[in-house]
Amino acid sequence: MKKILSRLSDVTKITHRASFSDMDQKIMKHQYGSDAFMNILQSRYSCHSFNHYPVSASKLEMILEAGRLAPSAKNLQPTRIWVVKSEEALARLHQVHDCYGAPVVLIVGCRNEEAWVRECDGVNAAKTDAAIVLTHLMLTATDAGLANMWIWDFDPGKIREVLPETRNHGIYGLLAIGHPSSSEGKPTELHAQRKPLKDIVTEL
Ligand SMILES: Cc1cc2nc3c(=O)[nH]c(=O)nc-3n(C[C@H](O)[C@H](O)[C@H](O)COP(=O)(O)O)c2cc1C
Repeated sequence: MKKILSRLSDVTKITHRASFSDMDQKIMKHQYGSDAFMNILQSRYSCHSFNHYPVSASKLEMILEAGRLAPSAKNLQPTRIWVVKSEEALARLHQVHDCYGAPVVLIVGCRNEEAWVRECDGVNAAKTDAAIVLTHLMLTATDAGLANMWIWDFDPGKIREVLPETRNHGIYGLLAIGHPSSSEGKPTELHAQRKPLKDIVTEL
């Protein structure tokens, strides 16, 4: 019996080795990680104009699941997401922000008192936690082939007014999601402008 079990465990090791070697083959351009992930980062851009083509329920589900998987300080998970997609809710949101005509807008907020507060200086992690969730949503939308736009230039008080479901929360970002309009849904010139690594990294 012992012999059979030890043989089985050998087989498991071989299977593991096989799957690791499969993974190695997928690493092509970059020495570590996968090209797929770098491609998502490189293809994402801020879309300033959407057409009316809807976002499928399965893509939206995948995007929201990515938000759920985001890490948070002390794992308190204080972030909430409101999915604005009905005609009626979009019309209310449009009273305060047009969101570039996107058929779906995710409002990302936190109940600040549910977030972790750092003891040494009293800084609340709510905004950081919300930004991580938004980043997961944004990159997953890109991976799903959807254009998107992180919007921060809005008045949170006005959003809470037109969408009272969000009251009692800090609102830290909107993510407009959809399909780019053929005329103006292209990357702006800012998209190509990134500082060189030497300007943003200091080796100590
Ligand atoms: C936190 C954050 C807030 C932003 N808010 C706005 C906004 O309110 N309006 C806007 O036109 N663009 C907004 N953007 C988009 C940025 O202007 C854009 O990311 C930047 O110009 C680089 O372009 P790219 O996203 O196409 O690479 C925001 C981006 C981030 C990350």
